[in-house]
Amino acid sequence: MQLLLEHEHSFINGKSYQTDDTFSVLNPANLGVVKEVSSVDELGCELALSGAQCALKQLRTVSASLRSEVLKKWHALILSHEEMLAELMVAEQGKPLHEALGEVRYAAGFVEWFAQEAIRSYGETIPSQNTSVQLSTIKQPVGVVLGITPWNFPLAMITRKVAPAYAAGCSFILKPSEETPLSAIALAKLAIQAGMEAGAFQVLITRQPAKLVEGYCQSAAVRKLTFTGSTKVGQLLLSHSATTIKRTSMELGGNAPFIVYGSANIPAAVAGLMAAKFRNAGQTCVAANRVLVEQECMAEFISCLTTAVATLKVGDGMVAGNDLGPLINESAKAKVQGLIASALKQGAKIHYQGAEEAGLFMAPVILTHVTPEMDIANTEIFGPIVSVMAFFDEVQSLVFANGVEEGLAAYFYSQDVSQIHRVSHALEYGMIGINEGMISNPVAPFGGIKQSGLGREGAKQGLDEYLEVKYLCQKFD
Ligand code: SIN
Repeated sequence: MQLLLEHEHSFINGKSYQTDDTFSVLNPANLGVVKEVSSVDELGCELALSGAQCALKQLRTVSASLRSEVLKKWHALILSHEEMLAELMVAEQGKPLHEALGEVRYAAGFVEWFAQEAIRSYGETIPSQNTSVQLSTIKQPVGVVLGITPWNFPLAMITRKVAPAYAAGCSFILKPSEETPLSAIALAKLAIQAGMEAGAFQVLITRQPAKLVEGYCQSAAVRKLTFTGSTKVGQLLLSHSATTIKRTSMELGGNAPFIVYGSANIPAAVAGLMAAKFRNAGQTCVAANRVLVEQECMAEFISCLTTAVATLKVGDGMVAGNDLGPLINESAKAKVQGLIASALKQGAKIHYQGAEEAGLFMAPVILTHVTPEMDIANTEIFGPIVSVMAFFDEVQSLVFANGVEEGLAAYFYSQDVSQIHRVSHALEYGMIGINEGMISNPVAPFGGIKQSGLGREGAKQGLDEYLEVKYLCQKFD
């Protein structure tokens, strides 16, 4: 099967589905057209839903171990196409090639993990008070799933949803971001090549995402909605899903504090921050958004950080040696520039700024004298800006860190074991990096609390998101 056609289309029931309504996928590095894609119509959406319903029935006859085998083949195919997938990702998303390659492997890691978990959806027997009654539970697939994924991780955010859904026996309709549909189509074609049933994983490309998603949210045939994206859109999707009481998983916005305590190993903290901040040019929901530094180590930290940031090279992701690719589009760059301007107006200072960059590229910036009230401290930056604020003691660091509505990831650096225990328990976040800036891992539960979402992805918890527990109460005569 050809991985990508000259023009691309939605992928419905194992085949390309073409319409005349086309739009361009742009390369954010040069704004050139990567490919023309067609936008799905109403008929395509209906076909996808009936295909997903058929596949769901078919999947009931496929054992968990067979589904596991299909996932293993999909994993192998993703890896054997890793260079092509990485180059495609750079073209439509912009991240540096080495990061894209890392993401292909991260994406494949979810498929591998859930190939192993597919055979472990255990039920249980429950000791009964009455010996003539047997109590047990079984786990069954939730049903047809609608997934909505973002542009910042065009492959990994998909496999992290589709692989557990398939492992559980669910069929999946995916609406990837309009900015990065090509990686999604390539992934679906590889899944079919691996032996996935035609309607088990379908990709719908649309220029009218709100209409498509609303339609599916109103359908009782779609039993689950899984979304990665902003908190604002997540709230809207939850309200759309309310009338049909869908199961939902929401991986929403973050506002990660990155706390550096006086006892921290400063070079290690700076290395951790470089990873937590600059991956994908700062466009990740787990990016360090507020860097909180204890006053006593501020000078040493800022000096070490400035040296590290000054080495960053901005430019086309296909050019070896570049560390920061472009932001995804003009409004993304304008938003980040607006946050810098408002921070300066509110009293922050620019400590370091790289040379101005053209197009969608953006030089890294270090802002100091940031305070918790500023807009930049209360907004997910999604760009290469390090926003630094000072604190005086542990109590104040926790007030600052927890004083926001989001609760996705948090990081802290300390060499004081008692402090590590206290702070890791006190931080109101779903994921904590302790002396570590890179926490994402297919085998660990990814997800947030408060306004950062519902549910967990990856790990053993990730499979349960696609399973219903059925309780059986059997009476013996
Ligand atoms: C995200 O930014 O949405 C996900 C980041 C990750 O999986 O590490």
